[in-house]
Amino acid sequence: MPLVTMAEILESAKSGGYAVGAFNINNMEFLQGIVEAAVEERSPVIIAVSEGAMKYAGVEYLSAMVRVAAEKADVPIALHLDHGKHWDKIVLAIRNGFTSVMIDASDKPFDQNVAITKKVVELAHAVGVTVEAELGRLAGVEDIVKVEEREAILTDPQEAKKFVELTEVDALAVAVGTSHGAYKFKGEPKLDIERIRKIRELTDIPLVLHGASGVIPEILELAEKYGAKLAGAKGVPDDQIAEAVKAGICKINIDTDLRLAFLAAVRRELAEKPENFDPRKYLGPGRELVKEVVKRKMRLFGSAGKA
Ligand code: G3H
Ligand code: 13P
Ligand code: ZN
Repeated sequence: MPLVTMAEILESAKSGGYAVGAFNINNMEFLQGIVEAAVEERSPVIIAVSEGAMKYAGVEYLSAMVRVAAEKADVPIALHLDHGKHWDKIVLAIRNGFTSVMIDASDKPFDQNVAITKKVVELAHAVGVTVEAELGRLAGVEDIVKVEEREAILTDPQEAKKFVELTEVDALAVAVGTSHGAYKFKGEPKLDIERIRKIRELTDIPLVLHGASGVIPEILELAEKYGAKLAGAKGVPDDQIAEAVKAGICKINIDTDLRLAFLAAVRRELAEKPENFDPRKYLGPGRELVKEVVKRKMRLFGSAGKA
């Protein structure tokens, strides 16, 4: 089917009380693994392309591949710009058929974030494209002991209410204790679930959890067995993701877990078959393990069976 908007996918998720995964791609193998998982799990899915992905692969290549993947699949797929920071990249994404864009001005003061986000909403809504914005900063907060310092980073529920009213965004990324990458926590992983609940009550729009990878222990073990150096890697445990969904998270961003899965499988293939030089024989298993991880996430998020 043709690409759908992210708003359409997230409205169903919000009313159904589940979350939909947004999975990052930079090449064909990740895209195919993700879409095969969505079809097999009967799940809607969001394909996320960052500005870095656009630079690496070219926006035309990525958008054309995603369009073909969506047309061949019989589940709803949205194409989303992840962490759009530059006006020209947002326009480029829209011109290339993205059905959703994120404007990430979360490093700016509140008023500037509002002004920048409003401008993007005006443009995107004029052509039927969904907008996600971010309020709060995604940083490791477990080391911060002072309450006021922690408060300055995490999303303030009252500010979120004001932000949503002023900008009219379709989805809001919130900072509740996660961070990007493979090293999220030094101590015990802890998300501020109560904060999600309060923001949800005050805003009533789909909320987004970035930096949500679990750094799956079996995958980490496999990658390390074949030589990866990832000491100290730690992610968000599955039970906290389930709590976050119950509290009102409707979109969950996953990149690191797919990178680790692909890495582990490719490393295993290269180590076990040193005589092989056919790329299909090591990229294929990478694609297969990406698919397995995505299927696992879809069941955890509750989106499996919803398409
Ligand atoms: O949050 C960022 C995503 O993991 C994409 O990362 O900017 O390296 O493509 P990237
Ligand atoms: P992870 O690094 O936890 O996978 O987060 C990805 C993300 O938030 C992309 O926007
Ligand atoms: Zn992110």
